[in-house]
Amino acid sequence: CGIIGYTGGRPAVPLIIEGLRRLEYRGYDSAGTAYVQDGELQVVRAEGKLIELDTKLAALDTSRARAGIGHTRWATHGVPVERNAHPHIDQDGTIALVHNGIIENYQELKDELTAAGHTFRTETDTEVIAHLIGAVLNACIVEGVPEEDCMIQALSRALARAEGAYALAVINLAEPDVIYGARHSSPLVMGVSDEENFLASDIPAFLPYTRNVVYLNDGELVRLTKNSWTVYDCATAKKIERTPQRIEWDIQAAQKGGYKHFMLKEIFEQPMVVTNCLTGRLSPDHKHVTLPELEEMPVPERLHIIACGTSFHAGLWAMYLMENWAKIPTSVEIASEYRYRDTILGEGDQVLVISQSGETADTLACLRKVKEQGAKVIGLCNVVGSSIARESDTVIYTQAGPEISVASTKAMCSQLVVLTLMALFWGRRKNLLTEMAETECLDTLKRIPEHLETALPEMRETARTLARQYSGARSFLFLGRGSCYPLALEGALKLKEISYIHAEGYAAGEMKHGPIALIDPDFPTFALALADDLFPKVQSNLQEVQARNGKIIALTQDGMDLTVDSVWKIPHAWGPLDVFFALPALQLFAYEVADYLGKDVDQPRNLAKSVTVE
Ligand code: G6P
Repeated sequence: CGIIGYTGGRPAVPLIIEGLRRLEYRGYDSAGTAYVQDGELQVVRAEGKLIELDTKLAALDTSRARAGIGHTRWATHGVPVERNAHPHIDQDGTIALVHNGIIENYQELKDELTAAGHTFRTETDTEVIAHLIGAVLNACIVEGVPEEDCMIQALSRALARAEGAYALAVINLAEPDVIYGARHSSPLVMGVSDEENFLASDIPAFLPYTRNVVYLNDGELVRLTKNSWTVYDCATAKKIERTPQRIEWDIQAAQKGGYKHFMLKEIFEQPMVVTNCLTGRLSPDHKHVTLPELEEMPVPERLHIIACGTSFHAGLWAMYLMENWAKIPTSVEIASEYRYRDTILGEGDQVLVISQSGETADTLACLRKVKEQGAKVIGLCNVVGSSIARESDTVIYTQAGPEISVASTKAMCSQLVVLTLMALFWGRRKNLLTEMAETECLDTLKRIPEHLETALPEMRETARTLARQYSGARSFLFLGRGSCYPLALEGALKLKEISYIHAEGYAAGEMKHGPIALIDPDFPTFALALADDLFPKVQSNLQEVQARNGKIIALTQDGMDLTVDSVWKIPHAWGPLDVFFALPALQLFAYEVADYLGKDVDQPRNLAKSVTVE
């Protein structure tokens, strides 16, 4: 979603709409704005594209508002209707706010506020946070907190109660020309100048007006007026000194967050994607998985996973977890094959269709086919309201945000997180998991974002060095075993998609039945040799490659005994969760090779993001 706030000497509403338009590349399905004019708080919202909001506003005179906030929503759950669009207001109708993220404990807060006499107009967590801030603000006024400190105090105290992730922009009727912001695990940045100030989720929103920016850190609050901005520590409400940075990007670079390509930006977004995927899916004590989407359905007797492309690889990886942790017999099928077979579905079997776009024609056709046969279908999608999402019996959203690069990266990462949670969820329902195993897995997952954030820059450097050494190859073999086999397939797919170098993913043990004939000094092998039970087997496969003078890059970890041409060590996570480091390594390697060869990384020839034809 996109957030913008403006305060300055010019009419605020047109600037807000313009800012939202520059965030449109992030996707949207509803939009809204709030401002104070002639002593009244106005909130205007519309379902659909920004033009709908624009049309509504055109009928109004907004010319006297000098500050305001705006939002474009890209639904991660909940239907995109006007009622759910932001801004939301508090009980008294004096506070309006826009929000990115999820407030995990909103139900608890809502129950408390309801008991205190609040009534809610929507089911959203955002409305709860607006009410909470309003209630705490009233308490601050009663306590006699000085007027100019009231909002900061109220935000600090209210947000101390909020768990989850948020970036907020807030406006208060009592201070028509002031906007407030808060950040915790969701991006928020200020654009500052002498005469006007901006707050936004993303730099493009205000780039034409100022290049001086202050990135807010987690746990910071901010108060902006036309000619001042102050940052506070949210926990203590004490001021913090910050210095603006100057941005030299053009608008296109800004949309890519300063990265050269969307693909690179999306690879680097994966730590945030893991956080977003986990948000709201853990029990309050963080010991168990909560997946209300699956609560009503029995555990499948057998699971049939159907998907295409990268989503198929995510499904193949999940098979190992479903079998190992949840003891569910699992098959994974390519949709274009499945749809024309005489497939057999048993009583109690369930079908899981995986699709980032939710529109892939073959996957959709399979969904319809199995539904006709009476099977229950679980959809795992990124795009809310897409065909697959609508037609599935239950849908789990991956919450990865819009993916723009044709080659899928962060979407696969989000699918892997949700699939891990599903395997744990079913394993637990079947009483197969010890509490310790579940807690250990969830603890590891929670640590991944931070760990990955630190690891990514170095991984990119290694990928860049290797790209320069190996990009002359005409063909590549990617090898892996066990849960690394799907990764070998994905590594090969990424490389061929964007660099146009032929690459084949193979099960390492199957290599001797054919591909080994191809090995020579000009045909390099990229091996996944992670620290798992199958490592010794992979090691001997690599010796077979070396015996034929084949060059090897091995993705491995500390403590593994390997002597190959290029050893690339990635961090350890835990068991199969090492995938969250191995996957970005493969993506970065493909990216760096393609970029080095000067290919059109984000829009490779002949490929489409969403394949809606057979
Ligand atoms: C296209 C895209 C791939 C994607 C596949 C499946 O081929 O280029 O990146 O993996 O479709 O798409 P879906 O949206 O169903 O996951």
